[in-house]
Amino acid sequence: ASTLGAGAAQNGRYFGTAIASGRLNDPVYTTIANREFNSVTAENEMKIDATEPQRDRFDFTAADRVYNWAVQNGKQVRGHTLAWHSQQPDWMRSLSGGALRQAMINHINGVMAHYRGKIVQWDVVNEAFADGGSGARRDSNLQRTGNDWIEVAFRTARAADPAAKLCYNDYNVENWTWAKTQAMYAMVRDFKQRGVPIDCVGFQAHFNSGSPYDSNFRTTLRNFAALGVDVAITELDIQGAPPATYANVTNDCLAVPRCLGITVWGVRDTDSWRPEHTPLLFDGNGNKKAAYTSVLNALNAT
Ligand code: G3I
Repeated sequence: ASTLGAGAAQNGRYFGTAIASGRLNDPVYTTIANREFNSVTAENEMKIDATEPQRDRFDFTAADRVYNWAVQNGKQVRGHTLAWHSQQPDWMRSLSGGALRQAMINHINGVMAHYRGKIVQWDVVNEAFADGGSGARRDSNLQRTGNDWIEVAFRTARAADPAAKLCYNDYNVENWTWAKTQAMYAMVRDFKQRGVPIDCVGFQAHFNSGSPYDSNFRTTLRNFAALGVDVAITELDIQGAPPATYANVTNDCLAVPRCLGITVWGVRDTDSWRPEHTPLLFDGNGNKKAAYTSVLNALNAT
């Protein structure tokens, strides 16, 4: 294969990218994105502040711009994200208790109804665990509504769009030895045991000097898959884009049958949320980097 998407497809997987609606009028950007990737995640446009800027007034203008671009170009869409402590609109930030719980449910229902049957995977809940060694839930207004907020979100999502795979998505959960990884594992195991509807776990995979890639990522993917969920690499970027590390991550996904695919968090380094890390597969001029070639070779080797 000569593109990432085709290379992934020959392994029964997808290769995706985050798309920013504001860049869709940049022909260099859209040419690369359309050629190389067959899955799209909206970088910001399907988040809570974008889709429900005023309470009960949903706005899918920017989200649909990304969605329509993807579908018109033959790509599947990952939904990101329905319940999150961050990027909440002001009206939601000011809520607590039962009112916030109801607003979360209402938000999930509103967004999933708009895209019912059209989204392959939804990140239902994003980043609910604390950083560091505690293994605790992250403190947030959602967490303070009660520890069951995550399962309520998943049950709501299942009813709203039974066709979508429902994912829990987080970062710094790639290393099997980390407390955050173990906490997420315990939650998913508990959900599977109790019949809470969860289908997949998204590993963001933002690797950098503070949280570097470790080869035990493959063990992590395998152990989660053994719980009976699919796994996906959802926001991959690697500080400095070392080709060998990109190849390792690609091979980790290919080694685990339940790994659905890989999404990189942007197209060119200059599109990244961390441009100073030059973490992506294309440079600012749109040229393929060495990391691109190593990923494509890994996809073609199997
Ligand atoms: O659109 C406004 C613009 O009008 C304004 O002038 C400007 C001034 O700050 O802000 C613009 O919004 C920014 C938005 O990106 C679009 O560029 C926000 O400030 C900025 O906070 C936002 O950052 C996004 C970040 O999530 C917010 O949490 C990044 O683009 C996005 O890449 C990043 O993605 C997250 C995933 O959703 C979850 N996992 C981690 C990942 C990286 O942080």
